[in-house]
Amino acid sequence: MASSPATIELVVTTAAPEATRSLAERLAAAARAGDLLCLIGDLGAGKTQFAKGFALGLGVDDVVSSPTFVLMTEYAGRLPLFHIDLYRLADASDALAGGLLDERQLAGVALVEWAERLGDALPASRLDVVIDGTGDEPRRIALRTADPGYRRYLEAAA
Ligand SMILES: Nc1ncnc2c1ncn2[C@@H]1O[C@H](COP(=O)(O)OP(=O)(O)O)[C@@H](O)[C@H]1O
Ligand SMILES: [Mg+2]
Repeated sequence: MASSPATIELVVTTAAPEATRSLAERLAAAARAGDLLCLIGDLGAGKTQFAKGFALGLGVDDVVSSPTFVLMTEYAGRLPLFHIDLYRLADASDALAGGLLDERQLAGVALVEWAERLGDALPASRLDVVIDGTGDEPRRIALRTADPGYRRYLEAAA
């Protein structure tokens, strides 16, 4: 019988944006070239807050913000960081076909906001960071992967 790979998950709750950033900063210590992290959550959930903390953990000096007119911004750190935001993309799966995720990112870590818009085009090998909650609510942050190679992120968060 064929079995799908087991998904492993760790849930962390953060009560403030600083806590989300520091969680992401710790996770960045586990980052390796070629990693793909998908940031999933409503508008205002904290995806960009996570990206800011992750960048800090990679030693990026620049301020990370939401790329407004570009799909991807590259930052220099311990590893290159590729921050991608698909919010404004009408048909995100076309972006993949158009080379949005390509071999350039193998040199660094790709953080993709609204990654679920890529649907089936998303590579199976990835870490999903699913953020629930908005406004002043605490955030429930699920770190989820079907690839044992990404288990190190869950260990870094624990
Ligand atoms: N626990 C928390 N984690 C992350 N952000 C939080 C938290 N509590 C409140 N916030 C606020 O929620 C907003 C999240 O914004 P942002 O990261 O830009 O969201 P997104 O990129 O998901 O649209 C920020 O204004 C932040 O200060
Ligand atoms: Mg954002």
